[in-house]
Amino acid sequence: MVVEYKRFLITAALPYANGELHLGHIMSTYLPADIITRFLRLNKKDAIYICATDEHGTPILIKAEEEKKTPEEFVKYWHKRDKEEFEKLGIKFDIFYRTHSKENETTAQEFFLKLYNKKYIFKKEVEQFYCESCKKFLPDRYVKGTCPYCKSQEQYSDYCEKCGKAIGIGEIEDPHCAVCKSKPIKKKSIHYFFKLSSFSKKLRKYLLKNKNLQAEIRNYVINWIDSGLQDWDITRDISWGIKIPLKEARDKTLYVWFEAPICYISSTKKWSQLNKKDWKKFWKSKDCCIMHFIGKDIVYHHYLFWPAILMGVNNGFLLPSFIPVRGHLTLEGEKFSKSRGLYVSLKDYLEKYDPDYLRFYMSLITTYSASDVNFSWKEYQQRINTELVNIIGNFIYRTTFFIYKFFNSRVPKLYQLDEKDKEILNELKIEHKKITENLNKIEIQRALQEIIFLAGRANKYFQEKEPWRDLEKRKKEISNCLNISMNLCRALSIYLYPFIPFSIEKLWKQINIKESEQDWKSAYKLKIKANHHINEPFILFKKIEDDVIEKEIAKLGIKQENRQEVKKEVISFEEFKKMDLRVGRVMDAEKVAGTDKLIKMTVDFGELGKRTVVAGIAKFYEPEDLVNKQFVFVTNLEPKKMRGILSEAMILAAVEGDEEKIALVGIEKEVKEGTPVQ
Ligand code: 2FM
Ligand code: ZN
Repeated sequence: MVVEYKRFLITAALPYANGELHLGHIMSTYLPADIITRFLRLNKKDAIYICATDEHGTPILIKAEEEKKTPEEFVKYWHKRDKEEFEKLGIKFDIFYRTHSKENETTAQEFFLKLYNKKYIFKKEVEQFYCESCKKFLPDRYVKGTCPYCKSQEQYSDYCEKCGKAIGIGEIEDPHCAVCKSKPIKKKSIHYFFKLSSFSKKLRKYLLKNKNLQAEIRNYVINWIDSGLQDWDITRDISWGIKIPLKEARDKTLYVWFEAPICYISSTKKWSQLNKKDWKKFWKSKDCCIMHFIGKDIVYHHYLFWPAILMGVNNGFLLPSFIPVRGHLTLEGEKFSKSRGLYVSLKDYLEKYDPDYLRFYMSLITTYSASDVNFSWKEYQQRINTELVNIIGNFIYRTTFFIYKFFNSRVPKLYQLDEKDKEILNELKIEHKKITENLNKIEIQRALQEIIFLAGRANKYFQEKEPWRDLEKRKKEISNCLNISMNLCRALSIYLYPFIPFSIEKLWKQINIKESEQDWKSAYKLKIKANHHINEPFILFKKIEDDVIEKEIAKLGIKQENRQEVKKEVISFEEFKKMDLRVGRVMDAEKVAGTDKLIKMTVDFGELGKRTVVAGIAKFYEPEDLVNKQFVFVTNLEPKKMRGILSEAMILAAVEGDEEKIALVGIEKEVKEGTPVQ
């Protein structure tokens, strides 16, 4: 649980300073980290959010050369652009620094020397491509050639973009220098390697002990360890980068992946210096929680490489407490691809649309897992128009408008509460707990679903109270309704602030409450008192029209024939109806002794009573991940004994491949236990 800590250092993976930010980056990394930081701040925690541009390395150097710019000019441009775009989206870093900085150079060199002196870095001679006409070694992307697997031409020497395979050193066919096209020779060079393999045991222990890490990720990282870790070549024979701090290696630089994570620390140092704070309070004191938000393609670097570096340096540095991983984003069901026009850059989006709409929609579709997430313009429109406009916006507008119009902009008094008033206040308390618990577990999507649920209940309360009817005769009842509704608006505003900060700041002005006085813990309390004056209401959220969405879809030019159809046998509705699918809530769960596959649960099915369910999901879920959650079950399947335990229903799950990945089927909002699924 996040809330146990006093202090937080939150980082988001450093974007390479060589191209546009796109929606995928936002979804997996920058937005979730921003939401959690804002949530912690509302909880009055000492939380800082750190990021920087990743500015060294071969791809950046090549791109700069192509654009006839110096690498310094090139990265400066992207740093500035990224910074502006993040700000426009409300991604509020405490510092957005750079790997090409004095602080990072010093810290990375210190780290190198510490590891070198402790013999965690060793030298080895390797063969590298070398271009005799350019007079330089050609690491990674400096060599192009034909892919040995699919034979497509002009592929980089380490990775084929056509068939997606990694190409081993020296395997590329018909190699040529990416700059001058001449054929390179092979030349020997001394490289420095980080002994990752010698940390296998310690890493295993760290991963097993750290229950904050996602179980699915932890499991496959442990598999990597068990199948043997390779030592890492942390040297590059290029000039653009941080120099290796040894006399004998003056012409070499550090591999970007060695110094980029170190920049999490260097940036904190810079922030401390600018704000007169002590960076060690974050990196070295036990009451601090370090959280690295990342996308799934850099799990290896953050779950293994980075903790191993920290263990090796072992200078009181804390290991990461949380490393939340999220998947890739697809667009209309297809992979993002700039060349095929299947692409939405953050800049494109922000030029036309509301940043909060993107934050809201993305939070709603992004699960806390490495599964891919799909961005669909139609769904974006639908979710904004229903959840944000019709449910949340409508409730806020109705409440404020009524107070403005019929109570002279003053919040009316609270009289004796009736049953409905009590009921909604009780629901508010319950939801407060659920929303808080979800955010404490970084379950951003679930937290937002609960907030929407609460707004729905608030709307229902307002509707049933009919404050428009017989105002004079029902003055006390209507006063109560509006006082409570106004306080519900405040509660919703606090819960929603991490998700849609721009809109909520406007709302706070409108309802005349101070941003600095809002705090999470009191969100459910009736803090807005009688006679509080509000300003003239305005509509916060506007519907997205069809033509806007149609234009965006047309621009993508998705061809219908590209869409793959999966053919399956057709069944009749009668056949489908034979199955009794129902929502159940897991009351308790435990591993079945003597097996590493089975979990036994007690599930509450409401009118059907409580049942025992056994499922083969222990490799993917910890029992505590399941407790108190609702899932979908088949309840009329023949009961089956597993390890002597009678399982009386079957939990539904999406299963990838040969059980490589399992995702349980949940529901989008809470319903009563035992509700049929049809
Ligand atoms: O994969 C990337 O985009 C890298 N630039 C991330 C670096 S994160 C960190 F470790 F520095
Ligand atoms: Zn060359």
